Amino acid sequence: APVAAVIPAAGRGVRLGPGAPKALRALNGTPMLIHAVHSLAASRHVSLVVVVAPVDGPTEVKSLLDAHALPERTDFVVVPGGESRQESVALGLAAVPPEYGVVLVHDAARPLVPVDTVDAVIEAVRDGAPAVVPALPLADTVKEVEPATEPGAPEPVVATPERARLRAVQTPQGFDRATLVRAHETVTEDVTDDASMVEQLGLPVVTVPGHEEAFKVTRPLDLVLAEAVLARRRL
Ligand code: CTP
Ligand code: MG
Repeated sequence: APVAAVIPAAGRGVRLGPGAPKALRALNGTPMLIHAVHSLAASRHVSLVVVVAPVDGPTEVKSLLDAHALPERTDFVVVPGGESRQESVALGLAAVPPEYGVVLVHDAARPLVPVDTVDAVIEAVRDGAPAVVPALPLADTVKEVEPATEPGAPEPVVATPERARLRAVQTPQGFDRATLVRAHETVTEDVTDDASMVEQLGLPVVTVPGHEEAFKVTRPLDLVLAEAVLARRRL
């Protein structure tokens, strides 16, 4: 089945601080979104990229994509995003024609994901998994707390899940298209990743190995790391 990639890029990037919408911020001179689109289009399996642009940004995003040519095998479409990431993904998914049996959902904020990770996700979906997430073991121990009401106040620790059983999940997450469409139609509460909606349908979700370079650019220090990784690649 042909593969489409939906790239939600409509967030403002509040945690990154003031400036342009996060996906349009430059990394070594090129907008983060362009790096992300090229990382997905690097897979020879991906034949359509749907970019979910900031609400006031589709025109700017279209001209950016025209200026940074994709491989000839790859089409692109730009649609305006929504209030939440989930809504933005649903709007992007609605722009994927039904012949695309496999859909990847990839954060524009993970501009440096290696093509081998993209291909591993696609392969696992093609092998029959309805939902696939790249995942990495954690470096830090994780505590569950009773969240404080004022920022900075001490928070009581409730539990410490066994670190060896925990994984940090990345994108692209890969789906059988019909499964992802059904998940979006069925699940109404807020989620922070797409695969959890498939879990709620009672369907199996599997992991493949993630990659350190697929980290999410979230806070200012992440920009320093992303530019260093690009410099090491000589980009
Ligand atoms: N996203 C989106 N539409 C939204 C919110 C987020 O398309 N309404 C996208 C972001 O552009 C990003 C991805 O979802 O590529 C992951 O979200 P996150 O890293 O949280 O980005 P932001 O929401 O932009 O950042 P913040 O939460 O710090 O504001
Ligand atoms: Mg966010």
